Amino acid sequence: MSRVTVRDLAQMKVKGEKIPMITAYDYTSARLADAAEIPVVLVGDSLGMVVMGYDSTIQVTLDDMVHHTKMVSRGSQNALIIADMPFMTYQVDPAQALTNAARLIQEGGAQSVKLEGGQSVAETVHRIVECGIPVMGHLGLTPQSINALGGYRVQGRQRKEAVQLLQDAKALEDAGAYAVVLELVPTQLARLISQRLTIPTIGIGAGPGCDGQVQVLHDMLGLFTDFMPKHAKRYANLAEEIKEAFFQYAREVREGEFPTDQQSFTMDEEILNELAILQ
Ligand code: KIV
Repeated sequence: MSRVTVRDLAQMKVKGEKIPMITAYDYTSARLADAAEIPVVLVGDSLGMVVMGYDSTIQVTLDDMVHHTKMVSRGSQNALIIADMPFMTYQVDPAQALTNAARLIQEGGAQSVKLEGGQSVAETVHRIVECGIPVMGHLGLTPQSINALGGYRVQGRQRKEAVQLLQDAKALEDAGAYAVVLELVPTQLARLISQRLTIPTIGIGAGPGCDGQVQVLHDMLGLFTDFMPKHAKRYANLAEEIKEAFFQYAREVREGEFPTDQQSFTMDEEILNELAILQ
């Protein structure tokens, strides 16, 4: 199986095939996503919250992203790997954004980058794309702007906001983005944007009318339990299973039940006897 490309995603939209995408932050999760034939893997800056323990994605640095993208690209053979550009690595000017995007591709091993914003980043998207790096946009709730947005809430419910979202989506398409994430957008508006664009939309909390869906790995596996976003569906309850395993392990160590011969190694009795008589 060869690696999924941005052209494949365009074809999927044309054929009406939905696009599944999940986040991955390390080698092991990337391998599992590949084994499950997930075509698109996002090294999201959500890792700042679910892996690094920050209270937002704002603290994540380009070095953090390069570090985790390297792990994912070692684990993934088949998926299209997208790396998030962190806060303030693409807003200053297009030239700096291009240099930073290039690090995620060249050092990290991603095939594409994602950045947040619409018309305000269109020139930057165009510059990165014309240099051969595919760009995914991200509209609606843009977590890097959480301080300006004033909270994690649905975007585009009011007329002015909704018109802006439509214009932003079109601006991204015109700038050369190959897809756009719609986060926390009303179902009807996300469907309308998906119909208006020729590029695929990937929803998270944006309803079933998007061309694909993305979920944060730790939310869908029930690994991150600080809070549970409404848009997330739990497909497993790993935090409970892991805690259970930790309790059992600690109890077995305390009670001398672990390790047994099965997890231990032996040596030649003759050498042992020689050691016994040595001072
Ligand atoms: O960082 C992330 O995981 C994301 C997804 C929520 C789309 O941007």
